[in-house]
Amino acid sequence: MVKTEPLFVAQKISKHFDSGEQRVEILKEINLTLHAGEMVAIVGASGTGKTTLLHLFGGLARPDSGTMHCAGVDLDNKNDNELARFRNNTIGFVFQFHHLLPEFTALENTIMPGLIAGLKGPQLQEYGLELLARVGLAGHEEQTVGELSGGEQQRVALARALIRKPALLLADEPTGNLDPQTGRKVFELLQSLNRDLNLTTVMVTHNHELAGRMDRCLVLKEGILVNHQL
Ligand SMILES: Nc1ncnc2c1ncn2[C@@H]1O[C@H](COP(=O)(O)OP(=O)(O)OP(=O)(O)O)[C@@H](O)[C@H]1O
Ligand SMILES: [Mg+2]
Repeated sequence: MVKTEPLFVAQKISKHFDSGEQRVEILKEINLTLHAGEMVAIVGASGTGKTTLLHLFGGLARPDSGTMHCAGVDLDNKNDNELARFRNNTIGFVFQFHHLLPEFTALENTIMPGLIAGLKGPQLQEYGLELLARVGLAGHEEQTVGELSGGEQQRVALARALIRKPALLLADEPTGNLDPQTGRKVFELLQSLNRDLNLTTVMVTHNHELAGRMDRCLVLKEGILVNHQL
C-alpha cells in the first residue's frame, strides 16, 4: 500500500496570552496530523482556545513554539508576506463571525478573495456563481449581503472560503448562529464538499450531534487536544 504524506502536521504548538500581570497558557504542546480528505471536529468549552487554534493552523497568528507543515509548506520562520501567501493559496476560513461586507452582493463577497489575489475575468465569476448555487443561493447572487438572513450569510461565507480552492478548510462554528435545521443543512453541504472535492475540513462546533457525524472528534480541554468519544 502506498503511504501518502499527511496534508497537515502540527507538532508541540503552544500559545499564551497576557492578561494583566498574568500569563495564561492557552495551548500546551498541541499535536495534530490530518490526512487529505479527513473531516475533523473540535469541541470544547467557551474560552478554551478553539478559535486561537484555528488561527494558528491557518497562519493568521503565530504560535510561541512548535512546528507546522501544511500541503508541502513549512510554516515556521515565514515572514508576514510569505504567511499571507500561504493563507491565500492553501486555506479557506469560515470565521466565527463571518466578516462579510454587507453593502456588497453575495457574488462580490464570494469572489473577493480571488480579486484580491489578482484573478479576474469570467472564470472567477463563473466559479463564484457555481459555488453560490452549490450552497443553495442561486437567485441571491446580486442581493447585498446585508439583506440576507443569518443562514444565508453563513453560506456566502462558506462560498467565499472555497473560491480559491483551498486544500484545507478551517470552519469556526459555521452552524453556531443557525437554527438546528439550517445548521444541519450547512453541515451536510460541508460533507458533500468534502466528498466531491476531497476537501480536508476542521470544524469547531458546540453541536455534538454534528461532531459525531465527522470522521474524528477532538476535544480541547485545559490546553490539550485529545480524542473524544461521543
Ligand atoms: N488576542 C488576544 N489577547 C488576549 N487574550 C486572548 C486573545 N485572543 C484570545 N484570548 C483569550 O484566549 C482564550 C481563548 O480564546 P478563544 O477565542 O480561542 O476561545 P474559544 O474556545 O474559541 O471560545 P468560544 O467557544 O467562546 O468561541 C480566551 O480566554 C480569550 O480571552
Ligand atoms: Mg471561538
